[in-house]
Amino acid sequence: MNDTSKRPAWFLLTQHWLSLLGVALVATALISWLFVLPQQIRGHVDNPYVGIVVFLFIPAIFFTGLLLIPVGVHLSKRQIRGGLAEATFDRKSAVQRVAWFFGVTTLFNILIGTQVTYRAVEHMETPQFCGGTCHTMNPELAAYQNSPHSRVECVECHVAPGATGWITSKASGIRQLIETVFNTYPRPIPSALESNRLVPARETCENCHWPQQFGGVRLRVFSKYADDEANTRSETVLLMLVGGDRISGIHGAHFGPGVHIRFAAADAKRQTIPWVEYKNTDTGGVRTFVSPEAPPDSAKALSKFDMECVDCHNRPTHTFELPERALDKALALGQLPVTLPYVKKKGLELLKANYATSAEATANLPTGLVSFYQQNYPDLYANRSKDIHEAGRAVLAIYNRNVFPDLKVSWGTYPNNLGHMDFPGCFRCHDGSHTSSEGKTITQDCNTCHEPLAMDETSPEILKTLGIAERISKIQKQ
Ligand code: HEC
Ligand code: HEC
Ligand code: HEC
Ligand code: HEC
Ligand code: HEC
Repeated sequence: MNDTSKRPAWFLLTQHWLSLLGVALVATALISWLFVLPQQIRGHVDNPYVGIVVFLFIPAIFFTGLLLIPVGVHLSKRQIRGGLAEATFDRKSAVQRVAWFFGVTTLFNILIGTQVTYRAVEHMETPQFCGGTCHTMNPELAAYQNSPHSRVECVECHVAPGATGWITSKASGIRQLIETVFNTYPRPIPSALESNRLVPARETCENCHWPQQFGGVRLRVFSKYADDEANTRSETVLLMLVGGDRISGIHGAHFGPGVHIRFAAADAKRQTIPWVEYKNTDTGGVRTFVSPEAPPDSAKALSKFDMECVDCHNRPTHTFELPERALDKALALGQLPVTLPYVKKKGLELLKANYATSAEATANLPTGLVSFYQQNYPDLYANRSKDIHEAGRAVLAIYNRNVFPDLKVSWGTYPNNLGHMDFPGCFRCHDGSHTSSEGKTITQDCNTCHEPLAMDETSPEILKTLGIAERISKIQKQ
């Protein structure tokens, strides 16, 4: 009978294709790790989804390989015992076979390691992967691309530096993968503040924006277009008293030296704030402001938050627009010609209409605008059909970066807390009714946060004084 014990173990390893496959898989996993791990250990932040490759796929390959080796060895022993396989140990041909095998797999592995794994990991670091591959994040990617932070990587704001941030992000990456595979993710995706998953601003925003640094004032021009035939333009000009540090103003009031503000929210989106505490460790002052609508002591049971950048700037990059404002902006930037009669009114109507899917909007929205001019302004249409078709596409682009029917994201789904015209924002606390025991209220005075230089004027004097009225009217005449 055949005696398998005289042959070395590696010989048995080469006798069955299953154990050979096992060795190949183990080698592939090891080489892939070799390419990915150093990068993982070095980087201070990295993409949570890379964890899926490093901690799920590669180990899966590794352990499958490990499992296949003894199975193959076992099977080859059985074949030899049964006389089905080569029984005599021919060292030369066995060594040759092993050498060939290792040569080919190593070459193959280096190809995979350098070209596939490394590239895949590199790709997973990009905003296109974060926001684009996983279709659930398309709304966030679309709004991000249209924001001041469009060159800041997702991980800069969503992954805390250091080991804890690294582990937390791996865990949520894997959770999100599972939710996506089983199609159990919530629609709309809850805002990050709402689900308490946002990394503290101290560890993200403040890496780039030094909190003591801002100062001074900022001129804001809000252009609006009426819904009349001429799309009449008017301007609101505000001097925002941003301030900061010792010069007080908006920033200084909430986190100047010694200032700590805490608040309690009655809802997860933090839109109703019945209780606010102001502490100044420099002056020793403490004031607690309570909304008269809140039942006494109700705040005790609510979760408390330290006020931070994102309580005002919650949409610094996922800045979803409202339809009126988006049209005003497109008109001001000349993306929509103001010379098309009723373009604001008609555009708004088309944006606010109900479309079951994005495809339906793509099919009906631009044609809606085109047929409006064909029917009501045939002469104009004959002369300017190119402009009109372009306008239709511009209105559709506004829709596509703000409304995602399949994810239940529509106008106003995600409130913006900076301001008070569209959402409660600053007035969640500054509504003039939050009062302290000494009778002080959190101010609603119209000149505290901004100096109004013009309110809804068609041709504000201040813009002429500043010499920018000319430039604005140039766009209007295009
Ligand atoms: C400048 C910082 C910043 C960058 C860069 C950034 N985000 Fe966000 N993101 C935020 C903040 C702040 C919130 C929380 C908003 C809230 O809770 O109101 C958020 C929330 C989210 C949410 C939850 C849903 C929502 O809209 O609240 C998703 C999903 C998301 N971000 C994905 C991304 C993706 C994908 C990228 C890269 C394409 C990215 N983020 C880049 C700051 C950022
Ligand atoms: C990786 C660096 C980086 C991080 C992290 C970052 N920002 Fe910024 N932020 C920038 C840069 C750069 C600009 C200037 C963009 C420009 O001028 O177009 C900017 C601009 C801004 C502006 C001014 C926007 C405007 O209207 O002009 C605000 C507000 C802001 N960031 C808030 C935040 C908040 C809040 C966070 C955290 C959630 C944050 N940033 C995180 C780099 C960063
Ligand atoms: C109380 C609300 C509030 C808080 C908290 C807050 N900001 Fe602001 N911030 C504002 C307002 C309001 C403006 C002016 C916006 C405008 O121009 O319309 C502003 C302006 C800015 C600007 C643009 C400044 C300029 O002059 O161009 C940056 C950058 C900024 N904030 C970053 C931050 C960062 C970082 C934090 C956290 C350390 C923070 N803000 C906290 C309300 C706040
Ligand atoms: C969570 C509650 C809260 C929110 C939201 C909030 N503030 Fe405040 N704000 C306070 C408190 C508390 C004070 C200090 C009140 C006091 O003791 O005088 C304050 C003071 C101020 C002051 C100084 C007022 C003065 O009398 O000099 C300004 C300016 C200001 N806030 C601007 C803003 C702006 C702009 C926003 C929105 C972008 C905003 N705040 C949002 C709580 C809030
Ligand atoms: C607590 C601070 C604060 C107070 C008090 C306040 N505002 Fe504002 N207001 C803001 C901020 C911040 C914005 C800018 C939002 C932005 O950047 O888009 C704003 C924007 C505006 C705008 C711009 C309009 C637009 O088209 O968006 C108007 C008008 C305005 N405020 C009027 C008022 C009036 C009237 C009062 C008095 C009842 C008042 N504000 C009180 C903070 C305040």
